[in-house]
Amino acid sequence: MDDSRETLGPKAFVTGFPVKHSRSPLIHGYWLKTLGLPGSYRAHEVAPAEFAGFIASLKDGSSGFTGGNVTIPHKELAYQLADCPDALSEELGASNTLWIEDGKLHATNTDGRGFTANLDERHPGWDQTGTAVIFGAGGASRAVIQAVRDRGLKNIHVVNRTLSRAQELADRFGAQVRAHAPEALNEVMSGAGLFINTTSLGMDGEAAPQMDFSPLASGAVVTDIVYVPLRTPMLIQAEQQGFATVDGLGMLLHQAVPGFAKWFGRTPDVDAELRALIVADMEKH
Ligand code: ATR
Repeated sequence: MDDSRETLGPKAFVTGFPVKHSRSPLIHGYWLKTLGLPGSYRAHEVAPAEFAGFIASLKDGSSGFTGGNVTIPHKELAYQLADCPDALSEELGASNTLWIEDGKLHATNTDGRGFTANLDERHPGWDQTGTAVIFGAGGASRAVIQAVRDRGLKNIHVVNRTLSRAQELADRFGAQVRAHAPEALNEVMSGAGLFINTTSLGMDGEAAPQMDFSPLASGAVVTDIVYVPLRTPMLIQAEQQGFATVDGLGMLLHQAVPGFAKWFGRTPDVDAELRALIVADMEKH
């Protein structure tokens, strides 16, 4: 029964290099199973030198895939090679979701939507603040800046160890976004309602700096896009200092929703069982 479901329906992939760490097959597999839909979703590793060929096989149909997700290091090339990247991808210069429609390869980027959907679920009203502080200016911060700006926040402060990287993002994302060096952290946090860590500080149990969140507005929320560990040092400190926190796992789950809907035709729910499944997997590895 399961076998025929897999061979009959649409076939989707996640590609990266390496890709075996990806939890996307677990997420989409859970939805296929619980919704009882035909189809499959699997990890498909593609080396950088082969990526253009892989995209060509998607476009001419010889891969057999309906679409899929793209992760590091292929997101930029996926955007460049797509026939029809949407406006979100275009501004970011990177795509994480591909699908064939009317014979063309379409591309979008769902990371920002994943970020906002997670906050909407866990801390509704987060967008009522005028001011957000985004710590970090790497690849992962881009979609977050875009999403927060598109939600209408007027003052978005990007703080980064390397100021030039923050400045590049401020230039890219418009007048609401300003760049700062870490020395300005206390000042820009003053009265902000949202603090977002996008740096790798505290990831995988590594040490994180001592943070003073007290300048934030009372009722502010602190979130981290790092989700390994689930309770990062930043979140623990924010909690200890009396702030609401939202972990980053929901961003991973919610960013998967639009792709699933495109490939398999149903919009899935991010429910507690799915979250528990991924948490259990994280505990195993
Ligand atoms: P990603 O694409 O996952 O965001 P990245 O491009 O390597 O990864 O960015 C990592 C972010 O963490 C950057 O903002 C980086 O700051 P720099 O731009 O100055 O490199 C930040 N980061 C990493 N280690 C850091 C540290 N020890 N102190 C402060 N910031 C750090």
